[in-house]
Amino acid sequence: MRKEYMMTPGPTPVPAEVLLSQARPMFHHRTPRFTELLISIEEGLKYIFETKNDVFIFASSGTGVMESSVVNLLSSGDKVICCSNGKFGDRLVKLNETYGMNVIKLEYPWEQVVNPADIKRELDANPDIKAVFVVQSETSTGILNDVKAIGEIVKDYDAVLVVDSITGIGAVECKADEWNLDVVMTGSQKGLMMPPGLAAISVSEKAWTAVEKSTLPKFYFSWKKYADSLHKSEPTTPFTPAVSLIVGLGEAINLMRNEGLENIIKRHAILAEATRAGVEAMGLKLFAPPEGRGNAVTPAWIPDGVDGGKLVKLLKSEYGITVAGGQDYLKGKIFRIGHLGYFDRFDIITTLAGVEMVLAKMDYPVTSGIGVQAAEKVFMDNPF
Ligand SMILES: Cc1ncc(COP(=O)(O)O)c(C=O)c1O
Repeated sequence: MRKEYMMTPGPTPVPAEVLLSQARPMFHHRTPRFTELLISIEEGLKYIFETKNDVFIFASSGTGVMESSVVNLLSSGDKVICCSNGKFGDRLVKLNETYGMNVIKLEYPWEQVVNPADIKRELDANPDIKAVFVVQSETSTGILNDVKAIGEIVKDYDAVLVVDSITGIGAVECKADEWNLDVVMTGSQKGLMMPPGLAAISVSEKAWTAVEKSTLPKFYFSWKKYADSLHKSEPTTPFTPAVSLIVGLGEAINLMRNEGLENIIKRHAILAEATRAGVEAMGLKLFAPPEGRGNAVTPAWIPDGVDGGKLVKLLKSEYGITVAGGQDYLKGKIFRIGHLGYFDRFDIITTLAGVEMVLAKMDYPVTSGIGVQAAEKVFMDNPF
């Protein structure tokens, strides 16, 4: 027998209550039962996104709602800013280019945070910019971009601020209304502790004015269709929803409400701190700079002389621990420990112990237990 530990930043582990709820017999979605569930989920998502705006749920992965933000807000040739300091920022660029946008790219080395002052400079120089796209929690690098500061800038311009918080929501603060984030999105297989398959997006009043002007074709991803259905006297969805996933989401939201958003974010901050302490105690270097470290995933450089691909493989084959490797040019150079969603202290302890053992196997000099000890100290100093 071997236990599996999935320490990746998506998909993430799913609590048993959530899994079991999805095994219940199917029921029809044009029923009071579904309407009641949808209303409560809507309220729950508003709580989690910290917004009064509608939050729409799509049967898609996160990329689907990213795409929906382009097709609902823009028209071909519109000028947009895309900030990119990682793989998912790059995806925002590609998506906008695919739909023929005039993209002003604010590109940064992957080890750097997005500089809000650069956005202000471009907005001042280009009053016709329609939207600013940014990733809050860049999963490929663990970097947290300061969307609060960006919101403070963009609110004074006509442009709409679109935030990919796919690995932010449920792990770090992301206050859609207070921070003037017009469009915020997440995916189910992340902080919502669900299997992949759903994505959610909140849309502000300012964003709706952009929707009115948008001429790009849209059908399945039309926000208007979702708003019309949600605002019916008996709220529903325009198309067949992923009923079982929606049931699971209801259960996941119950768990999140019981823990409380503040506590959830605090737990993630402590898990991230312990992971960082453990990794550094082993003598490894963290990838993300101190000013931009998020709570969702901790990437670390593979030390010299160690085969990065082999480290990830051995963790899995020897100890059943799945961590993520590096993406694109960071393949083989970093590994990433996810702690986003249904994670607790001993997930981190287990993983750090596994990393220590694999490093020892690969003849990297590491004192047995040194990372675990550092993480334990963080946990003992910061009970939750
Ligand atoms: C920050 C971020 N944006 C977008 C995506 C794309 O989401 P999906 O793979 O669900 O389409 C991911 C997925 O890992 C992500 O982490």
